[in-house]
Amino acid sequence: MSTMPMTGDFVRESLELHLFWARIMKEHAIFDEDGFECKDVALLQEAENFKCKFEEILYEAICLAPGVISAEVLQSGELFTDKTLMAEQKMLELSGIAINTQLTVNELNLQPGMGMIPPGTGIEEKICVLNEKALTCAQAMAAFLQRVYDDVTKACCLFTHNLPSIFQHQLDETKMYMKHILRLQRGQLVDPTFHRVEMEMFWNQIMKEHAEVIRQLLDPKEEPLIEKANMHAKAFKKIQEEFEDGTQAKTNLQQITRETYAATLSLKDFKATNAELILACQLKSTISALLADHVLRETNHYLRILEMPLPEFHGGRG
Ligand SMILES: [Fe+2]
Ligand SMILES: [Fe+2]
Repeated sequence: MSTMPMTGDFVRESLELHLFWARIMKEHAIFDEDGFECKDVALLQEAENFKCKFEEILYEAICLAPGVISAEVLQSGELFTDKTLMAEQKMLELSGIAINTQLTVNELNLQPGMGMIPPGTGIEEKICVLNEKALTCAQAMAAFLQRVYDDVTKACCLFTHNLPSIFQHQLDETKMYMKHILRLQRGQLVDPTFHRVEMEMFWNQIMKEHAEVIRQLLDPKEEPLIEKANMHAKAFKKIQEEFEDGTQAKTNLQQITRETYAATLSLKDFKATNAELILACQLKSTISALLADHVLRETNHYLRILEMPLPEFHGGRG
């Protein structure tokens, strides 16, 4: 274990990672459970189990987080928004799926810190164990999503009320979570420019898919909103084309990032308005309040990444 970086950064980054992703994962499980037919008892149970496992990881991360995580992450709107608790209550009420809303209440009360880890608390070891546990759960979730996707699209032996692409989308997000955990556990250092390009390419694809899925789940009567969703999808498609294969992006990363930030900010406003309209019962769609809040949080997470200064290029030093 000599390569493991036992630093405050390792602890803080791990906790911030789980606070965001474990909640995202447990909500994927809720959306999956919500979409299966009543007769698919085994799948309903599997989704329910994943929800419980990720709630456990989220709980453990919340317990270790006080005074460790940064104010920046806590206030970014990626862990919770002002609508998360209401959205959870609505989802619980309408779907009948149990949701541990106490976790959200606990998170709302979290206090940030400076990432200073008091010595002798054994927190690094606890984090290592938590990272391994989260990785195992995410790996199992990835296998589950792949199986469901194949059963729906290839074997045609399963019907769900979720669009097939949603499972692919969830799978991509799960793999990104796994990648981050592995990097932390192995103490891997990544080239900052490579990392930044990787993040932007990944999240641009996610943002494009969100806009496409929102467009698809809106009632045909919501024409202006469908058009808006389509406009957002097109904006991200255009940005993606500018990135090409990710290698030539170095020279114009700054310009693409500026454009991306504007597009993401605009998409965030669209999603926030939608979430409010859904909670107020003023929007016709099959988008749950929790899904609306979920995609909003993912956007807030991406905005925080985009707000980080771009890495400096060291010419001639690789
Ligand atoms: Fe998601
Ligand atoms: Fe997503």
